Amino acid sequence: MSKKISVINGSNLNMLGRREKDIYGNLSLDETNKRITDKFHGRAEIIFFQSNHEGSVIDYIHSLPQTGVKCIVINAAAWTHTSIAIRDALLSISLPFIEVHISNVYRREEFRKLSFLSDCAEGVITGLGIQGYEFAVQYFIDKMEAK
Ligand code: DQA
Repeated sequence: MSKKISVINGSNLNMLGRREKDIYGNLSLDETNKRITDKFHGRAEIIFFQSNHEGSVIDYIHSLPQTGVKCIVINAAAWTHTSIAIRDALLSISLPFIEVHISNVYRREEFRKLSFLSDCAEGVITGLGIQGYEFAVQYFIDKMEAK
């Protein structure tokens, strides 16, 4: 399938469904990913990656152009607010990306309002729960189908 999209999750997102459920909800990361896979079955190939290690995420991002991935949906979690290295990795491969946050980062602590990614992102979705991933994937599929 030519429409290949990568969904990347950063630190602590493997704890979805167990971590701060009032903020992040009850679904695990596997369940979240399955929902996305099922929803877009037959329309795009979606590849999932999660790591708690910043360098692993950077290495993974660097590998993407060789895999045929055309666009990225990324929840960089806490690294959003701290990591120039993840920003630079994304810029180094020149693939369009959408920044997703499950929670509304603007309603939370001050430090979550800073993003090292937003100004380079094609768009930002924050506060719409795990549906945010689906909206981002849908956007990229629509865009690729329009070409
Ligand atoms: C998050 C928001 C971040 O501030 C936080 O560090 C996360 C998750 C979200 O999805 O709402 O780990 O990216």
